[in-house]
Amino acid sequence: MAVNSRYDLKLLYSREEISTVVNRLAANISNDYDGKDLIIIGVLKGAVIFLSDLIRELSIPAEIDFIGLSSYGDGVTSCGEVKIIAQPTAPVTGRHILITEDIVDTGLCIEGLLKYFSAFKPASIKICALMDKPSRHQVPVEIAYAGFTIPDKFVVGYGLDYAQRYRYLPQIYTLEEVSDEGQLASDD
Ligand code: PRP
Repeated sequence: MAVNSRYDLKLLYSREEISTVVNRLAANISNDYDGKDLIIIGVLKGAVIFLSDLIRELSIPAEIDFIGLSSYGDGVTSCGEVKIIAQPTAPVTGRHILITEDIVDTGLCIEGLLKYFSAFKPASIKICALMDKPSRHQVPVEIAYAGFTIPDKFVVGYGLDYAQRYRYLPQIYTLEEVSDEGQLASDD
């Protein structure tokens, strides 16, 4: 996908569909972590919108914190190699960590995050991801709380970006490249 190409946004998940999934995940998390010392870690930047909706649907207390990873490439590649550029400030040793991601693609970020947090000897570490692209996994990934399983399409909105654009959109869209033919036809 080239940065200079033209794209159309095609609706993939509406606000209602997202909200149904967020509510389901929050109910399962509330049930499983009741009475436990839960810290939810959002992976910057993409998970911010999802995390903020998710925590407001929980029926149990949870602390939140964030971790920043480096991102490489032209805006369409994901981590590839994990480098921590912003560390959480909260202590995690002996606590139950729930890593919250907007999307799992190759799984390499999750693999790196599990390695990073394991070193602090938490009581447990699990993954919650709004979207999962199983066809793209390069490493085994266990997602305890998975929202949508999606095909290998580039998605934006609801926190997800393309070259830092579209994060603010309240719904989730696929980015569809506009072919030259289509462009010519629509210009007529
Ligand atoms: C995206 C997404 C995940 C990661 C998943 O982040 O938010 O953190 O890629 O990719 P992986 O499964 O292939 O490792 P990105 O690097 O685009 O940064 P962003 O969250 O700031 O948009």
